[in-house]
Amino acid sequence: MNADQNQRITRIGPGTPCGALMRHYWQPAALLDEFDPALDPRMAQRPLKAVRLLGQDMVLFRDDTGAWGLLDRDCPHRGADLAFARHEGDGVRCPFHGWKFAADGRCLQTPAEPMGSTLCTRVRQRSYPVMVRAGVIFAWLGPEGSTPPALPDFHCFTAPDSHVFAFKGLWQCNWLQAFEVGIDPSHTSYLHRFEQDEALDGAYGKQFRNASVGEVRGERWPMTRVMRESGSPEIRHEEVSPGLTKITTLRAMTEQLTHVRVTHAMFPTTFVIPLSETMTITQMHVPVDDTHTYW
Ligand code: FES
Repeated sequence: MNADQNQRITRIGPGTPCGALMRHYWQPAALLDEFDPALDPRMAQRPLKAVRLLGQDMVLFRDDTGAWGLLDRDCPHRGADLAFARHEGDGVRCPFHGWKFAADGRCLQTPAEPMGSTLCTRVRQRSYPVMVRAGVIFAWLGPEGSTPPALPDFHCFTAPDSHVFAFKGLWQCNWLQAFEVGIDPSHTSYLHRFEQDEALDGAYGKQFRNASVGEVRGERWPMTRVMRESGSPEIRHEEVSPGLTKITTLRAMTEQLTHVRVTHAMFPTTFVIPLSETMTITQMHVPVDDTHTYW
């Protein structure tokens, strides 16, 4: 890929070709945990957060009915920052002149206008569709007035809540760099190496600690051992269907046995990796802006 192609595929702000493409996909905007008062007591009084996604600044909040609102962050009046808005239960009020907005973007009040003004009926703040799946609050920044697509039925979205958890981390790189790092299977033999294995009975939910499926001469090998003892895997890939690529990683375990690990990459930013027989990670690479990505 040359420099121009690299720019074209990694610049995702408003008005860019890749940004327009990315806006056709649901993107994780925040974790449900970030709005949990047990984890952040401020959320009991004011469930509102500033969010940056695809190079756009927005505010995400939940109103008293439980509805989510995702609005552009700059007030449509004079551009004041709605991240400082007062949360009033049924909407948020701009701190500058008191315009108030509902979760769907309707302007509810413009209190500084003359009595009888109907200005607020003609004002609307851009709002974006939001849905919650598996502890993740997804947003859709597609063209205004068009219908968002369904989210794919990844197992993490269909598994019961007792079997999923969500987390995130901020990386200082673009989405493609993050994606490339994660989908590369050979790094796991080194970056995620454990020199010693642990007993399998305490390994549930630990990254790579549990066994791979099957036995080797009557033993169940931890994934840590498989990766450690075969540090030069053979990597194959094939496009299963448009947008879905299967990556197969083969590691020799014995002269007779080969370990096969299959991961799936789903266009544009998601892949699903088995970490052991009891744990799978669905990893999304959320373009925050051109140089930051949430993992
Ligand atoms: S800038 Fe928001 S109400 Fe005036």
